[in-house]
Amino acid sequence: MPKYRNSLNHDPDSNDPLISRRSFLALLGVAAGFGALHLMGASVLGFLYPNAMKIPPSTFSLGRPEEVLQRDGKVFLPAQKVFVETQSGKVRVQTAVCTHLGCTVNMVETGYLCPCHGSVYDRLGRNVSGPAPRPLVFFDVFRGASGDLMVNKAKSTLDAQEAWFA
Ligand code: FES
Repeated sequence: MPKYRNSLNHDPDSNDPLISRRSFLALLGVAAGFGALHLMGASVLGFLYPNAMKIPPSTFSLGRPEEVLQRDGKVFLPAQKVFVETQSGKVRVQTAVCTHLGCTVNMVETGYLCPCHGSVYDRLGRNVSGPAPRPLVFFDVFRGASGDLMVNKAKSTLDAQEAWFA
């Protein structure tokens, strides 16, 4: 009758390199314990550093007013996904995020065009055609404590005239 190796008949003096069932199960338990600790660690870190800390702040600087306001035209800031329009010493900032599903719109001659599902906006960002349900908002521009022109993406308006900061 073959002698099966298990914890009951294991010869401790044997040089058999095979692992006993008891040792295997113990190792499996230790591995499962480390796995559980890893998951708990990830949860705890996720709790300590929530997603809210990873999203960019809603306020950002446009730069020194004497530099920003002397330009004329409209530029796209890809990091902030906004269009900055300057005209005769005034500036206004409009979102470049499509109101349909959040794609970044492109500036075209007639206004803005969303490459994802074809929403069309006029030069003021009013939705003209396509699935976009709302116009593109303008963000609040103000002078920060440092003297820089700042944009607050948490405060917006649909009034294109009110959006100018001079
Ligand atoms: S995301 Fe712009 S049209 Fe759908």
